[in-house]
Amino acid sequence: MKLPELVIGDLKIDIPIIQGGMGVRVSTASLASAVSNEGALGVIASVGLGEESKEDMTYEERSKIAFREMIRETKRLTNRKFGVNIMYALTNYDDLVNIAVEEEVGAIITGAGLPLHLPALVKNSMPKLIPIVSSARAAEIILRTWFKRYQKLPDAFIVEGPLAGGHLGFSYSEAMGIEQIFLEDIVGEVVNLVKEYKRSQNKEIPVIAAGGIFTGADIAQMLKLGASGVQMATRFVCTSECDVSEKYKEAYLKCKQEDIVVILSPAGMPARVIKNEFVERIQAGEKMKFECPFKCLKSCDPYSANYCIAQALVNAYRGNLDEGFAMCGANAYRLKEIVSVKELIYELIEQSIKEFYKIKNSISK
Ligand SMILES: Cc1cc2nc3c(=O)[nH]c(=O)nc-3n(C[C@H](O)[C@H](O)[C@H](O)COP(=O)(O)O)c2cc1C
Repeated sequence: MKLPELVIGDLKIDIPIIQGGMGVRVSTASLASAVSNEGALGVIASVGLGEESKEDMTYEERSKIAFREMIRETKRLTNRKFGVNIMYALTNYDDLVNIAVEEEVGAIITGAGLPLHLPALVKNSMPKLIPIVSSARAAEIILRTWFKRYQKLPDAFIVEGPLAGGHLGFSYSEAMGIEQIFLEDIVGEVVNLVKEYKRSQNKEIPVIAAGGIFTGADIAQMLKLGASGVQMATRFVCTSECDVSEKYKEAYLKCKQEDIVVILSPAGMPARVIKNEFVERIQAGEKMKFECPFKCLKSCDPYSANYCIAQALVNAYRGNLDEGFAMCGANAYRLKEIVSVKELIYELIEQSIKEFYKIKNSISK
């Protein structure tokens, strides 16, 4: 028995799991290629790349060079398709999309904003265009705008719920669970919305569920709701192929549920992180001295921000958690060990096949 493959136009992914893009430097060539090699879809993240020490170059130049190198490195490590995650909130969004197009990646995945002009950047080239949305309303705005302006529709949607890691497309109280929003509901709404487009435009737009998906049973549940696949990120941090420092992974393995908090990021969005002393200083409103080496986020004003989030994440990636923090999904506290990507995918597939066919059989009885 097999799970249904994830079909995004002519891009066919054997195992219906996308490994979520994780900036800053969390999902790099090593992780993404290992995931693609197992038959799922690996994704590299484009934010915060390029050595800060190269002071003779602007952030835009450094990040473009590093992003291109990372795509090429991933190609060296896998013959299979992989995707790139380019946040819409980035100041050099258009440049990074152009590189992804030139390098012929399998998919361009964009969250942290609505990429309304993305089709104009890729024209008729091949990467699949996959926006990340947190509501059916956001999906509808993209569908309508792309169709009206470019006679184009997204190749798939990733629907990200409030339990996800990184920056969140929800209000602080929704992200904290004070106002309850459920991924299952948003997935159902977007599945119904794309059915209308299937009827009127005859285009299949698969919906991929993300945010808090942890076990094979969770995957089966999402497939049952009409999702064609899932995107998972947090679980991939504690794999041997993930490039972050041991201390970063240790923060995951040691954290308790109450250590996982939501902060308001200088990007102007809530972000989920693991609490430590640095996070407590931010939460207390301390203004830290910094020179912005990146200018990476459209909505971040380095003069009024009280710290540099990109630098804090680079520090954490390198193991300096005194001056940084790890981002994570709401279920990070459930991680107990480091495994290989192969072991993780095997475990998820075993569990989800069992659950998927159990659910299907109970529906058909
Ligand atoms: C450490 C970390 C960094 C992330 N960085 C990004 C990013 O750069 N761009 C993005 O669109 N999503 C980012 N995300 C969100 C993931 O891609 C993914 O959709 C989400 O975390 C899925 O939920 P899960 O972590 O519970 O599986 C990040 C998540 C984590 C845990």
